[in-house]
Amino acid sequence: MKAAYITETGAPGVIQYGDLPIPEPKAGEVLVKVGATAVNPIDTYIRGGMIAMPLSYPYVIGCDLAGTVAAVGPDVKRFKQGDRVWGSNQGLFGRQGSFSEFAAVHEQWLYPTPASESDAQAAAGALVGITAHLGLFRCARLQPGELVFVNGGTGGVGSAVIQLAHAAGAKVIATAGSPAKLELCRRLGADLAVDYKAPDMDDQIRKFAADHGGVHVWFETQREPTYDRTVSMMAPRGRIIIMAGRQARPEFPHGPFYTKDLSLIGFAMFNGTPDEQRACGEALNAAFEAGRWKPQVGMTLPLSQAAQAHQSQQDNTLEKKGSLSGKIVMEVG
Ligand SMILES: NC(=O)c1ccc[n+]([C@@H]2O[C@H](COP(=O)([O-])OP(=O)(O)OC[C@H]3O[C@@H](n4cnc5c(N)ncnc54)[C@H](OP(=O)(O)O)[C@@H]3O)[C@@H](O)[C@H]2O)c1
Repeated sequence: MKAAYITETGAPGVIQYGDLPIPEPKAGEVLVKVGATAVNPIDTYIRGGMIAMPLSYPYVIGCDLAGTVAAVGPDVKRFKQGDRVWGSNQGLFGRQGSFSEFAAVHEQWLYPTPASESDAQAAAGALVGITAHLGLFRCARLQPGELVFVNGGTGGVGSAVIQLAHAAGAKVIATAGSPAKLELCRRLGADLAVDYKAPDMDDQIRKFAADHGGVHVWFETQREPTYDRTVSMMAPRGRIIIMAGRQARPEFPHGPFYTKDLSLIGFAMFNGTPDEQRACGEALNAAFEAGRWKPQVGMTLPLSQAAQAHQSQQDNTLEKKGSLSGKIVMEVG
C-alpha cells in the first residue's frame, strides 16, 4: 500500500511517500481502507521530534482518518466489513498513524460516519471536533446562555469551538485575522467576531461581555496566553481552558484569579479515554446530522504531498502566517 511515513524525525522533507505492507488487524482492530486523512499541528510536532512519542520506524504519520472497513480482526464487535468509519488518536503512544491506504485501528477509536458526511469532512472534523467537545463540555461544563470566548475562530479547534458552543445555546465571541475570516466566524455562529490585530480589540470584547457579566468560558488556542487580560475579562466562577503552548511560562495574576472563584483547566485530547472520546464522536455525529456541525475543509491534497501539507500546517500554526482557513485534508487512494 502507499503510505506517508518517516524513518527519522526532522523537517517536513523527512516524510517519505512509498510502499509499505498492508497491516494485519490484530484482536479488536479494524482494517480501514482510508478515504481521507487530515493534518493537525501535533503531526508536525511528532515528525519534527519536538514532542517525545515512542515511534517505531517506518512510522506512518497522522492522527485522523475516515474510510471504509475492509476487514475486521478477531473479537471486533462494533463494526463489520463495508461500514463507513472515522476516528482520531492514531500515531500516538506507539500506535502507527493514518496517512496510508490502509490502517489497522482498534475499534475503540472509531465511530460510524453519517451517511451524508464525506470522508474528507469526517477526517477534517476528527481531532479538532473531539478536542473542542472535550474542552467545552467535559472540562468547562458549558451551560446554555453562558458566554464563550475563543481565540482563532476559523482555526481547526476554534471553528469547532464556535459551532459546538453555539449549538449548545451559548453566546460566542471569536477572534480572527482578516475580514473574510471574521465573516466566517459569524457564519459559524459567533455573536461577535473581533479582529485580533484591532487596537480596540479588548474594548470590543469587554463591551460585549459586560452584558453577560463577563466571559464564562475562555477557550485559549494560542500558545502564549495573557492571563492578566483574560482574568480581568472573566465572569465570577468562569473557566479558562488551556490546551496549547508546552513551552509557555506566562505571568499569572494569582490574587485576581482566586478572588473571582475562577478555574484554570488544561487538557490534551489524546489523554481522553476511549469512552470519553466516543461520547464526543457520537455527539459530533448527531450535531452533523442536525446541521449544527460542519467540519471546515480548507485545502485538499493527494497523500503524495504530505510533506507540503506539513509545511503548510506549521507555517500557519507555528509561524502564524494566517495562510490557512479550514483543515488540510489528504485524499487517499
Ligand atoms: N491540547 C489538545 O488536545 C490540542 C488539540 C488540538 C490542537 N492543540 C493545539 O492548539 C493550537 C491550535 O490548533 P489548531 O489546530 O486550531 O491550529 P490552526 O488551525 O493552525 O489555528 C491557529 C489559529 O490561531 C489563530 N491566531 C494566530 N495568531 C493569533 C493571535 N495573535 N491572536 C488570536 N488568534 C491567533 C489563527 O487565526 P487566523 O487564521 O485568523 O490568523 C488560527 O485561527 C495548536 O498549538 C495545537 O498544537 C491542542
